[in-house]
Amino acid sequence: MAVSPLALVHEGGTTRIWLGATALTDAASEVALWLAGRRVFVISSAAVRELHREALEGLMGTAAEVVELNVADGENAKTMSTVERLAREMVVAGGKRDSRVITLGGGTVSDVGGFAAGCFLRGIEYGQVPTTLLAQVDASIGGKTGVNLPEAKNSVGLFHQPRWVVSDARFLSTLPARELRQAMFEVVKVGILADPVLFELVESSLADLLTAAPETLARAVERAVSVKVAMVAADEREGDRRRLLNLGHTLGHALETVVGHGRLRHGDAVGHGMLFATTLAEARGLASEDADRIRALLGRLGMAQLPSLKMAPILEAIRRDKKARESGLAWVLPLAIGRAEIADISELTVEKHLASFLKDCLE
Ligand code: GLY
Repeated sequence: MAVSPLALVHEGGTTRIWLGATALTDAASEVALWLAGRRVFVISSAAVRELHREALEGLMGTAAEVVELNVADGENAKTMSTVERLAREMVVAGGKRDSRVITLGGGTVSDVGGFAAGCFLRGIEYGQVPTTLLAQVDASIGGKTGVNLPEAKNSVGLFHQPRWVVSDARFLSTLPARELRQAMFEVVKVGILADPVLFELVESSLADLLTAAPETLARAVERAVSVKVAMVAADEREGDRRRLLNLGHTLGHALETVVGHGRLRHGDAVGHGMLFATTLAEARGLASEDADRIRALLGRLGMAQLPSLKMAPILEAIRRDKKARESGLAWVLPLAIGRAEIADISELTVEKHLASFLKDCLE
């Protein structure tokens, strides 16, 4: 029996999200209608395309023409020059306003491909086939697309909601444990800020999740995606509630920018960011037993050690963060496991706590 998709209702319509072990099959007839008679640009990396060629072929039978466009793996490909190249290739291949884009791959392909679809001819429709856990629980949901500048992560982009997302659980079985571990930081993040049951699931079943035990992983994906869908539906443009999803990302993005995207992975960076947010939160009254549970779980996930760092560039990167407003930078802090708040904290206080948090790696 086909499983009904989740629906994310937003300003521009509805994004249909298929999850689970039969997602590709469940979505096939709707995707076929959407593609019928159109040229489709499939944006992916060469390796991912080869790995999943057969799975994708089943989705694309009705397209008039399939054009393959490549994006290199990894965060370093998230640049304006990649978007320019993609747009030029789309023009040369005859792209029109009613052509389609499908992104197939992880977070980079999702962010950069969604951005290319959003600005090509002022925006054409796209669908997402996320093949990594990180892309399934985070990058493919929510419509934020974009690229990095050397000075600041994700600092050029736009909101462009996909028409559909097909997160097939079978893709996850081919992922190496290190990728599952990176993504698990985002899953834990969702647990801390909105879903105590998800947090407990990761606490009790971490080993299963990191070995891609299908049922446990599918439960975690479904809970994490459902929380994100609800938050985005309530606040698509990140004016208010959706900002909670940035837990751990203020310091996390600053660390990625300062250390270098190639040298510090996103999950590890967000892990350090969540640890720091927990420290700030404890100073404002977060119960120590909740703080200890968060630290214990992050400790079990094990973040990569930070290299030696200088304080000034980190503070500068925090000030430049795209989440900062003219009125200052608000921090997302846990209030309890499953609840978070946005708090204004003075730069002086942040600097004081950061100096002690980073003491082992400050030059
Ligand atoms: N595309 C990721 C997000 O909107 O959060």
